[in-house]
Amino acid sequence: MEIRGKVGVITGGGSGIGRAVSERLAHDGASIVVADIDDKGGAETVKMIESAGGKAAFVHANVTAIGDVRRMLDTALARFGRLDIVHNNAGIGVGAPGFPDAPPERWHLVVEIDLQAVILGTGLAAPIMQKQGGGVIINTASMAGLYPHRQDAVYGAAKGGVVNFTHSLASWSAERNIRVNCVCPGIVDTPMVRRGLEAATKLGIKSWMPAKIIQPQEIADAVALLVRDDSLFGCSLEVRPSGRQIVEPRPAPGSRKQS
Ligand SMILES: NC(=O)c1ccc[n+]([C@@H]2O[C@H](COP(=O)([O-])OP(=O)(O)OC[C@H]3O[C@@H](n4cnc5c(N)ncnc54)[C@H](O)[C@@H]3O)[C@@H](O)[C@H]2O)c1
Repeated sequence: MEIRGKVGVITGGGSGIGRAVSERLAHDGASIVVADIDDKGGAETVKMIESAGGKAAFVHANVTAIGDVRRMLDTALARFGRLDIVHNNAGIGVGAPGFPDAPPERWHLVVEIDLQAVILGTGLAAPIMQKQGGGVIINTASMAGLYPHRQDAVYGAAKGGVVNFTHSLASWSAERNIRVNCVCPGIVDTPMVRRGLEAATKLGIKSWMPAKIIQPQEIADAVALLVRDDSLFGCSLEVRPSGRQIVEPRPAPGSRKQS
């Protein structure tokens, strides 16, 4: 899909990866609805886009609340007249002291934001896009969803759910011309990662940073590729410091590969 002239909603657009994606798609000519629970961060992203000559609006939306998600999508229609791109990106980790020492409410919230909200955002955006004849949905998973993640198993489970949800929608996606794909970043230099490291250090928990860390703009490039490449349905795009690769959904044993 050509990005110029399109309208996108980015959740978690007030910080890190969501901000970089918002700026990138706006730079490429899309109008952006920045959705976040952080009003200050969201307003800053809008200001950054507008200062660079782009179009954007902020909507306060908690991605776990059905009413908020509906309002966030309606804002795209009300402010910019259409809805072409949804990036379900908002996310959190369990954080120190980790599973199972962190309160159960925290594990629950991780699954709610990182997985349930992705299902909600996809399910509520799809009928709007279908009416328009198509659209693109991108979910932020993680390399933690493709491989075991010993630092945060709950986060790994939620992100693994996002990967399989996305892969499972491959043929659904092709039938409706709503391309659903996900991006699976390695460790990215964002406030989320910095906060996690600080909290772990305070508790004396050993954690590490790879020698080469991915910049949020590299994830924005990957998301722009997922928007543009009309051949991708139900795929994961793994982004490592060394490069990126498409992971196609594997057909279930005994089933035929869906094209
Ligand atoms: N940073 C990394 O290394 C990394 C790696 C792989 C995947 N990810 C994923 O990328 C996404 C963005 O992470 P980031 O590193 O940019 O983090 P971040 O903390 O910098 O940004 C996340 C944003 O999401 C918002 N948010 C949190 N809960 C929300 C809710 N309920 N409703 C609406 N907004 C909410 C926050 O306010 C924040 O602005 C997350 O899904 C994260 O799991 C991050």
